[in-house]
Amino acid sequence: MATSNYGLKVCAGPEELAAKSALAIARTAAECIRHRGTFTLVLAGGSTPRRTYELLAQGEGEHSIDWSRVFLFFGDERFVPHDDPRSNYKLAHDTLLSVAPIVSEQVLAVDTSLSTPAASADDYSDRVARFFAQPRGTLPAFDMILLGLGDDGHTASLFPQADALKVHDQIATWSPPGVLPPPVDRITLTMPVLNAAHQVLFLVAGASKAGVLAEVLSGNANVAEHPAAGVRPKAGRVSWLVDQAAASQLPSEPNG
Ligand code: 6PG
Repeated sequence: MATSNYGLKVCAGPEELAAKSALAIARTAAECIRHRGTFTLVLAGGSTPRRTYELLAQGEGEHSIDWSRVFLFFGDERFVPHDDPRSNYKLAHDTLLSVAPIVSEQVLAVDTSLSTPAASADDYSDRVARFFAQPRGTLPAFDMILLGLGDDGHTASLFPQADALKVHDQIATWSPPGVLPPPVDRITLTMPVLNAAHQVLFLVAGASKAGVLAEVLSGNANVAEHPAAGVRPKAGRVSWLVDQAAASQLPSEPNG
């Protein structure tokens, strides 16, 4: 596994990426629990995290976590029922929540049964704010936020040129579909919340991500066009765990 000067680690393939990300999450969990007694983790949607969640649920060796101290949230959600195959909750449930010993009271899912995506976003914002018991208007600082990278440069459900990118006074907002499937309305944490995190871990795999990853990491990307480039936590750290296929268009390390 190679490393680089912008917190990027290149893994041989998806299996190593899953193992390394499960390890990073478990280690961060142990450190947060040791220092603060709890660990707040925001789950990413999409397909890349599937194997990572399975390894965390198995909890073998260095992947083990004290789930009694963990609180799980969702970085974004599709506005579909939780048993819909497109639901990010369903992905988490099938791989992690139905296997790991975490009680449902410690999982804050987006309620997609409400009347509109906007109502879901407001409800989710209120519940997250209540969890952090902070004065209104204070951003929640999650211990770790997992994010993916879309082929179009989106992350969470912050799509290029979307109005959601301009929302800075809410914890979560809603968005119409982006150009990538599934074509359903979304609920998403806002960019200021992503940037209030103590740590952000991007998981990126596959050759289809090579061009957009190189653009986002170039330092020249326009955030409106590539929202993932806007994830720069003020006091936190961004790490990238990618596989070789996704890293294929990155500049080689200075030492080759
Ligand atoms: C979603 C995700 C989205 C995802 C990226 C990457 O709801 O689709 O939150 O941001 O992380 O699109 O998706 P893949 O992991 O499937 O490539």
